[in-house]
Amino acid sequence: MSLHILVTGGAGYIGSHVCVALLEGGYQVTVIDNFSNSHPEAVARVNKIADGAINVIETDLADEGSIDFIRKEIGGRPVHGAIHLAGLKAVGESVAKPALYYHTNINSTLNLIEVMRMVGSNTVVFSSSATVYGEGNKNPLTETALNYMPTNPYGRTKLYNENILRDLYIADNDWRIANLRYFNPVGAHPSGLIGEDPQGIPNNLFPYIAQVAVGRREKLSVFGSDYPTRDGSGVRDYIHVQDLASGHVAALQFLHNQSAGCSADINLGTGKGVSVFEAIAAFERVSSRTIPFEVTARRPGDLAEVYADVTLASQLLAWQAQYDIDQMCADHWRWQMQNPAGYTG
Ligand code: WQD
Repeated sequence: MSLHILVTGGAGYIGSHVCVALLEGGYQVTVIDNFSNSHPEAVARVNKIADGAINVIETDLADEGSIDFIRKEIGGRPVHGAIHLAGLKAVGESVAKPALYYHTNINSTLNLIEVMRMVGSNTVVFSSSATVYGEGNKNPLTETALNYMPTNPYGRTKLYNENILRDLYIADNDWRIANLRYFNPVGAHPSGLIGEDPQGIPNNLFPYIAQVAVGRREKLSVFGSDYPTRDGSGVRDYIHVQDLASGHVAALQFLHNQSAGCSADINLGTGKGVSVFEAIAAFERVSSRTIPFEVTARRPGDLAEVYADVTLASQLLAWQAQYDIDQMCADHWRWQMQNPAGYTG
């Protein structure tokens, strides 16, 4: 009998790739999504890639009414765990609209916990973020860091959700919790059928570069070239979304294989830093397109360098990132070329 997993935010960029990995791993999947920042088409394409039959529950998990709605939609089907990705994730927007971010990102977690109690499951993999480290920690960032100073409301919601789930385990040791701290997810499924489809002007580097390469944007603004890094531009730990997806399945297997409850915080990165200029060069190499850019002022709140220590993921999950920056660019580029206007094009 195959295990049944709830994936909140399963129609999103990370969620859709996680669903492919789950289906290919023999799991049954139910997606819970309100499509506020995603597309039903993504679920249809996931089913096409993995020959799946995903059950979709369309609801806003942050609304209290969703708890009973989800329970009724699930009916008596057993549930063996949840991968919780639903939430808002734009750093700049979180600064402008903090109440919206606390409502959405915290209540969706509290409501999911109630759903899990109702369906009798105690296993949760949470989509956390390297932004929980904030400033004041040395690279490579390790999970044993002592001070967590997120510099924006989005990062604080991730830290608070980690603490909520960890406290759940402390109160009741039957809970099985994995807080996965993503570094910079980029790339797309090699089929080019699913990928990142940001609404409006992309906040993040890779989707912006891809839109310049495909002609949707004129040029890239490089936010500062005077950082204390090897070439002066910002350095980040970019991780292929396919590696991120396999990391989620590995975390789920880890939790299911434990003889008792547990709570673990785990970095998902490559352990290597790549600069903005190096990312531009890699994208130009794989796309044979020139990426025009202009160096502008630093973006407020940006750190010079952020990359992961990935020892724990290797030890606990027997997982390591497999893809390099060129593969990340090649797969991101294929998705962008095949879908110049994203899912709605
Ligand atoms: C990367 C580098 C910029 C855009 C964010 C979120 C974080 C996580 C990953 C969810 C930096 C530079 C960027 C541009 C640029 N998301 N840059 N021009 O800021 O590391 O992290 O995404 O968990 O929560 O904060 O990613 O892609 O925005 O920036 O020069 O147009 O590219 O300065 O050095 P970041 P990013």
